Amino acid sequence: MRRVPSAVLSRLQSQAQVAFYDGPFPATAADLGTRLAGKAGLICLLTDAITADVLAAAPELRIVANIAVGYNNVDVAAAKARGIVVTNTPDVLTDAVAEFTWGLILACARRIAEGDRLVRRGDWKGWALDFMLGMELKGKQLGVIGRGRIGRAVAARAPAFGMRAVFADRGPAPSGTGGSGGPSLPFDELLVTSDVISIHAPGTPETTHLIGRRELARMKRSAFLINTGRGSIVDEEALAWALKEHLIAGAALDVYEREPAIVPALLDMENVVLAPHLGSATRETRTAMADLAVSNVLAVLAGDPPLTPV
Ligand code: GLV
Repeated sequence: MRRVPSAVLSRLQSQAQVAFYDGPFPATAADLGTRLAGKAGLICLLTDAITADVLAAAPELRIVANIAVGYNNVDVAAAKARGIVVTNTPDVLTDAVAEFTWGLILACARRIAEGDRLVRRGDWKGWALDFMLGMELKGKQLGVIGRGRIGRAVAARAPAFGMRAVFADRGPAPSGTGGSGGPSLPFDELLVTSDVISIHAPGTPETTHLIGRRELARMKRSAFLINTGRGSIVDEEALAWALKEHLIAGAALDVYEREPAIVPALLDMENVVLAPHLGSATRETRTAMADLAVSNVLAVLAGDPPLTPV
């Protein structure tokens, strides 16, 4: 559904005929269905809705390889029912997303984006003792929602900033993810006691609006909320309300409920950092993600098991 880096593409083209979608916006379901007729494999993005109808239009399809770790854009149950393998791109993006998350934590705790806007407006009058004070991270608690690979990679970096990481106790740690990554607290206790809360859960019906008015009202007034998981997890209207009422100190978002649309109230607020879904966006990681998707497709077309099935 998009061109992939040339080194990755040549590996695919050496073994398969490849057709591209090059349109400026995600293809419609009808267009996708037409394009998929006669195709054995699909490499798609998180902006492509791979619905049951789309899959029904592609009887020869054997694999849907999503270039993303999240796969809420794919109807996995419908694919399974048709014997179509679905793969994602875990592991290769973990460090990139963890690094970006820390960038957002620092950006909102130390008001970096807000300061940048102020300087560009010509409003900087010079150094002052009490000017644009932020929150020091050292000695503070980082509450991590989601004990998967990315949540644990974010927590692992906390000691470098003198922070103590705790995980929300929302069921057992996912299997096959190595060590537990740190102590856990009951969800509400984490909300009440954390200075920074960072979300690293998948977008599922269970996590939809996991953070709403009730949860935001429980957070410390001095706390920051970071979301690099999925937009559906945070009720964006509730967040705008909490920021306006100063129920929390600030937020940083990389994902939104209706991307690329954003609740307008957030656009006018200084205490929220708004990133355009860049968590995995490094040259190294995006190439590795495309490469993994291609490896999954080539494996399945060769009759081998996929490397990273969901
Ligand atoms: C990005 O959001 C991903 O799921 O990889």
